[in-house]
Amino acid sequence: MYLGILDTPELASAAAAQIVFSLFKKEPNAILGVTTGSTPEGLYAELRAAHARGEFTLANSQAFALDEYVGISADHYERYRNVLRRELVGSRNTGLKNENLHSPNGLVSNSAAVAAQYDRDIRDAGGIDLQILGIGSNGHIGFNEPGGSLVSRTHVTPLSRQTILANARFFGHYPRNVPKTCITQGLGTIMEARILLLLAFGENKAEAVAQLAEGPISARWPATITQMHPEVYVVTDAAAASKLELSELYQERWALKFGA
Ligand code: PGA
Repeated sequence: MYLGILDTPELASAAAAQIVFSLFKKEPNAILGVTTGSTPEGLYAELRAAHARGEFTLANSQAFALDEYVGISADHYERYRNVLRRELVGSRNTGLKNENLHSPNGLVSNSAAVAAQYDRDIRDAGGIDLQILGIGSNGHIGFNEPGGSLVSRTHVTPLSRQTILANARFFGHYPRNVPKTCITQGLGTIMEARILLLLAFGENKAEAVAQLAEGPISARWPATITQMHPEVYVVTDAAAASKLELSELYQERWALKFGA
């Protein structure tokens, strides 16, 4: 695991974008795993800016969403497919084509079958080359909440109370408006991506980041499973790194790999 600690979310997003760019220089058709939430917004802005400069494109790529709400209406602003379309799709965005943006369909009654098919779709496409991740303050990645299986496949699952409260800000601050169920890539699915790029910003992520890097692997903090992944980049701002014990060591390793 490489941990990059930058002063601000803006600098961290730019550093994370460099990791995406260096993969796409080598593999212009790489398959991207994409997530939603506040955290990746700066990274997506970097990708759009590079696309506008003609330096980067997802025109030849496919992207797979990390998760989706179940039962949210097709045109809802917060449906993750719609969020990702706004962030990434279109010739003036990153070049990603709508038909190449894959997301679990949370609108059909048999969402368990949708979940199982989603794993097959990822595999049939050749697997995800780089998965972008955020982290919940409770240590979740995707909607893999504490206490769940560390080897799960894409599955249907209820949101925890903590996650419903955290996501209420996207639903007029009304927890009751937040969907109660979602389809999420499982931790086993996420771990099959060839590269993991996890971003975390803000003081309220500091405990989760400390556990992620330094805690024992445990379903209590689902993101700790990424310690078992061979190529993980965690990029944080100073606040999210504030509870790490070995931050100097991580910065030394990061500087050796990427330059100071
Ligand atoms: P956030 O969510 O980016 O909106 O903080 C991250 C997550 O819950 O995974």
